[in-house]
Amino acid sequence: MRTVSVHRAVIGRRETRVVRPSPSSTLTGLVAVDPFGAAALVAEFPPVWLRDNCPCSECRDPSSGQRLFGLEELPAVLGVSGVVPDGASVVVRFTDGHRGVFARDWLLANRLDGYDLDPRTQDAKVLWRPAELALDRATFTWRRFQDDPDHRARCLDSVLRLGFALLRDVPVSPGAVLEVAAGFGYVQETNYGRLFDVVTRPDAPNLAFTDRPIAPHTDNPYRDPVPTLQLLHCLANEAAGGDSGVVDGFHVAATLRADDPMAFAVLTRTPVTFRYAAPGVDLVATAPLIAVDPRGRIRGIRYNNRSAQPPRLPYPEAVEFYAAYRRLATLVASDQLRFRLDPGDCLVFDNTRILHARTGFAGIGSRHLQGCYADLDAVESAWRAHRPQGTFGG
Ligand code: OGA
Ligand code: ZN
Ligand code: ZN
Repeated sequence: MRTVSVHRAVIGRRETRVVRPSPSSTLTGLVAVDPFGAAALVAEFPPVWLRDNCPCSECRDPSSGQRLFGLEELPAVLGVSGVVPDGASVVVRFTDGHRGVFARDWLLANRLDGYDLDPRTQDAKVLWRPAELALDRATFTWRRFQDDPDHRARCLDSVLRLGFALLRDVPVSPGAVLEVAAGFGYVQETNYGRLFDVVTRPDAPNLAFTDRPIAPHTDNPYRDPVPTLQLLHCLANEAAGGDSGVVDGFHVAATLRADDPMAFAVLTRTPVTFRYAAPGVDLVATAPLIAVDPRGRIRGIRYNNRSAQPPRLPYPEAVEFYAAYRRLATLVASDQLRFRLDPGDCLVFDNTRILHARTGFAGIGSRHLQGCYADLDAVESAWRAHRPQGTFGG
């Protein structure tokens, strides 16, 4: 029997497991010289972990790979009674009489050495400040997106890593934004329709439909869940003004955390209510401006000065909240990447991270954008499916 320390020494130093390991990171060779002993295996994987993840055809449906039992069906106390190496596999006997065969490669790939990387958190992103990001790096063309799988993958990657992509040469025709959205996932219809026209109109129910400037914001914070992907396609932009801007909300939040951790904490724990009311519609959602994952990593920004409601907080919390909110607002205002959308340009962005803005406009020339919403999980899925090694079991 091997001791834990011997086993660990052979396995090598633990490292954080990431969702997309490169093929060269497998440690098959090392394991081949270290047949798992029962004590070593159990030291590495709790018996219930192994039993729950047994790949046999009694435990998993062979065609879908999906699990066929619930954890409550296993005995509360479960042990491993024997481990026998068998070539590239290890045969494990459990105290409930079950027998599981585990491939060594699989055990190594799933060793308990950290957490899966949540692709929605800051850890999976490239945070940027405007001065350091050339717009070209996030610029793609719709024709190549359709014809060239690598161009498309790089564009999806830009949305996932940088938070946005600028697609040029989209046809300047009404409704084209829906075709672009289909390249990224599935359109989410809202009270604004499958798509919405950003044009000035009288009695506008939203500042977006006026010629006023719009400060950096995320869309639809009054919705739960918020649409996680947004597209804005330019059909005309002849007005004076009407320039665009984007802000990396994750970078801004990370800066706030570094500069003023207390203010950051206040914004992660203070619920803010957003509301949008128009004839036949009254949408309300309450959530903090900065969402973090269970490990405290930045995972979402919900920020919109137009639709934020009066905070109902105890007096000291209201004071503390406004001080923190103002610090965030100041960072947001100074961190914009500015550019101009021309007809045929379509901005595609992560609405849980990237704040978007426009300057006010005036004059006789027309300005017309069409927008729609979709979701980021489909972008992740398309990006992963493009990769040859991008399949996951189960
Ligand atoms: C919007 C919006 C920006 C623009 O419609 O959500 O923010 O450039 N529009 O008009
Ligand atoms: Zn089994
Ligand atoms: Zn908007």
